[in-house]
Amino acid sequence: MGTYTGKVVIVTGGAQGMGRATALAFAREGAAVTIADVDVTAGRAAVDQVHQTDGRGLFVHADVAVSADCRRIVAETVAAFGGIDILFNNAGIQPPDSYRNAEETPEELWDRILAVNLKSYFLMARYAIPEIRKRGRGAIINNASVQGLQSMPGVPAYAASKGGVLSLTRQLAVDYAAEQIRVLAICPGTIDTEMVRRSAAREPEGLEAALARYGKSHPLGRIGTGEDIANAVLFLASDKASFMTGSYVCVDGGYMALGAWAGGAGARSEQ
Ligand SMILES: NC(=O)c1ccc[n+]([C@@H]2O[C@H](COP(=O)([O-])OP(=O)(O)OC[C@H]3O[C@@H](n4cnc5c(N)ncnc54)[C@H](O)[C@@H]3O)[C@@H](O)[C@H]2O)c1
Repeated sequence: MGTYTGKVVIVTGGAQGMGRATALAFAREGAAVTIADVDVTAGRAAVDQVHQTDGRGLFVHADVAVSADCRRIVAETVAAFGGIDILFNNAGIQPPDSYRNAEETPEELWDRILAVNLKSYFLMARYAIPEIRKRGRGAIINNASVQGLQSMPGVPAYAASKGGVLSLTRQLAVDYAAEQIRVLAICPGTIDTEMVRRSAAREPEGLEAALARYGKSHPLGRIGTGEDIANAVLFLASDKASFMTGSYVCVDGGYMALGAWAGGAGARSEQ
């Protein structure tokens, strides 16, 4: 018996990165898991990995920016597994060509980033909550970012989307607390995923050196892993976090604790 035996979990953007790691972790703990993703090849491969661990998994091909797709993710999950206990809103994009200031950001790019990173979290909550309610309790975990707390140049849409996720998390928590539906967010620092590897590969020093440099800027001296995120999400969704709602947890190797004046890991010895 795992911690999540008998529970049903939806993970958006579950084909790769933190979503896949978290979906696999839920499955290993006994949950039935729906992986919803735009990427069919990676989505099917991730569900195959769930099956290889004797877990129950379902792939739903969906663009979570589209309302009808979100409704279908919920419907197909209920048809396959009989209900929903936990929603991990995780899908997010930061396209390589999106690093621009507000004047240079096309409206369509703003709309797409806000639709995937923020509106989908609302849509998935809207369709999943009636099902979670039927179970008597449940949890929604939203993947925000340290970029919802502090900012950097050239990311107006991404920053707004992640700030919005934190605000939406507080708001949903207030509306649904009386029904024991807890809503929490995580703020990852830099995590070793396909998204980060795509950015790091474009750095002048090359992929591995760039990942090492990103790691040094975190006080713990490394970037995070998908498992670091999965561990936090599984805790927050569990009864061990039963008095937590409406807040966020940084899973960031100390990134948000570090003042901008202070430098990263080892900075003191280098000065
Ligand atoms: N990697 C980081 O360092 C980092 C840090 C902070 C926050 N985040 C956030 O964590 C979340 C996961 O990021 P990741 O690094 O694992 O990304 P990733 O690119 O490695 O994986 C994201 C997954 O989401 C899917 N996806 C993208 N658009 C979709 C859509 N419209 N509908 C359905 N699926 C879609 C992708 O196909 C992919 O499988 C995102 O919300 C991201 O903003 C990432």
